[in-house]
Amino acid sequence: MTQALYGPEGFYRRPEGPAGHFRTSVHASPLFAAAVARLLCRVDEALGHPGELAFVDMAAGRGELVAGVLSALPAEVAARTLAYAVELADPPAGPDPAVRWVAEPPRGVRGLLFANEWLDNVPLDIAEADFEGRPRLVLVDADGTESLGAPVGGPEAEWLRRWWPLRTPGARAEIGLTRDAAWAKAVAGVERGLAVAVDYAHTRAARPPFGTLTGFRAGRDCSPVPDGSCDLTAHVAVDACALPGALLLTQRTALHALGLSGTRPPLSLASSDPAAYLRALSHAGAAAELTAPGGLGGFSWLAQPVGIDGRGVLGDLGDLGDMEPREASGAPD
Ligand SMILES: C[S@@+](CC[C@H](N)C(=O)[O-])C[C@H]1O[C@@H](n2cnc3c(N)ncnc32)[C@H](O)[C@@H]1O
Repeated sequence: MTQALYGPEGFYRRPEGPAGHFRTSVHASPLFAAAVARLLCRVDEALGHPGELAFVDMAAGRGELVAGVLSALPAEVAARTLAYAVELADPPAGPDPAVRWVAEPPRGVRGLLFANEWLDNVPLDIAEADFEGRPRLVLVDADGTESLGAPVGGPEAEWLRRWWPLRTPGARAEIGLTRDAAWAKAVAGVERGLAVAVDYAHTRAARPPFGTLTGFRAGRDCSPVPDGSCDLTAHVAVDACALPGALLLTQRTALHALGLSGTRPPLSLASSDPAAYLRALSHAGAAAELTAPGGLGGFSWLAQPVGIDGRGVLGDLGDLGDMEPREASGAPD
């Protein structure tokens, strides 16, 4: 999976970048970056308006989010913002000199680290329960042919037992140990502020019985063949990633708390100011897409405050949507 995604011929090394194959919230509408910019302003306030405020676009793709955030910030905040794009692939041609392109999350920063659709692309091993219900590693050839390998042992077996127990023969689990470690490392770089991971995810109460590994190419899902021709993605066991004090909420709840609303403009505006009506209607359409419960709005936001009050910066969590924000203690249910 690592070679197929990030090796010299890997999928994410291709010149067209992620946007050539699928649409994330970042590509769906600039309203998403504007909401993240508002979140950065709230973090800035919680930090007491430091002289240097970091914004870290973790797994930045071609840097679309960091560019959108910088252009949506008030000038005074933008002037104090140190912007990072953390990405394994090459930066786009002619990158914005205001953005530092780095391959590893920076350390010791104060501000907001934001990882949109990163963790689902962090490579992992897959286990399948054999006829005796014993978890075995799933092996795969370059053409996608699968077979069962050795029994899962060591820390991976411990992870499965704790977070995704396999009992029924044929049941599968995606072993999220690598993602837990990747997230913990990114969070550790934030000295004070907030780290947010946004992804399609599940918790222990409702794991998918056969896993979620999928390929993606040119806007369509496809067989997950590890040959560099397609994305390889699996939903995130987000409760296992959560560190003490984390909040878990849906994107719908988070974006509402950040002031994004899909409310349609009043019809009366259509006759008094038709151009404003059309603008407001398109805004409402884009907001509705970003917050749709069965679509992007159903994504999970894992928000990890570091030395600040997470609920304070995320604002009004009154409308809880389908996932209660909770103190995700890192302990199993
Ligand atoms: C699905 S794309 C998301 C891009 C962007 N965040 C967005 O929402 O449009 C995942 C990106 O994560 C990058 N990536 C994966 N693992 C990474 C790591 N450990 N460090 C930096 N970038 C990584 C990939 O190269 C790819 O560009």
